Amino acid sequence: MMSLTTAALMLPQISPVICSAARHPQKTTDQKPAQNSGFRGGKKKESPWHCVEGCGACCKLQKGPSYPSPQEIFTNTSDVELYNSLIGPDGWCIHYEKSTRKCSIYSDRPYFCRAEPEVFKSLFGVKEKNFNKEACSFCRDSIKAVYGSNSKELHSFDKSIKSSSG
Ligand SMILES: *[C@@H]1O[C@H](CO)[C@@H](O)[C@H](O)[C@H]1NC(C)=O
Repeated sequence: MMSLTTAALMLPQISPVICSAARHPQKTTDQKPAQNSGFRGGKKKESPWHCVEGCGACCKLQKGPSYPSPQEIFTNTSDVELYNSLIGPDGWCIHYEKSTRKCSIYSDRPYFCRAEPEVFKSLFGVKEKNFNKEACSFCRDSIKAVYGSNSKELHSFDKSIKSSSG
């Protein structure tokens, strides 16, 4: 199995999709978490992963020759064909709307566009308990590849994740 960090860069995730996978609502104030909150309950603090709007980095399906091809990611040739059929001339998904940075086929998007524990498990062998962590690093890697390490998109993602981690 190829490493998640390289394979994940190819996985197209789409803004509204990913938000549906968020498990914990974002805090809207800077209130301190309750001392005996069950969520924190002595466990290591973890940033719940969620999609950040106005990004779309995962919809850039071709990020360059140094990234793995669909053949390297998928074992099923149907997946390879579907993935390839989505790549537009500029490397972005043909269903990606640049003006809004959203997916135009959101409700019919392929399974591999869904950032969900089951998808990460089947494609990358990620255990469910590691989903949040791996999804966050997947997003960061995608954003860096598309927008750069010092992009507003990366700052926005980090800020959003941090603000929801309690
Ligand atoms: C490959 O994907 C297709 C379409 O989803 C499915 O019908 C088929 O059973 C899959 N093949 C394997 C070997 O998993």
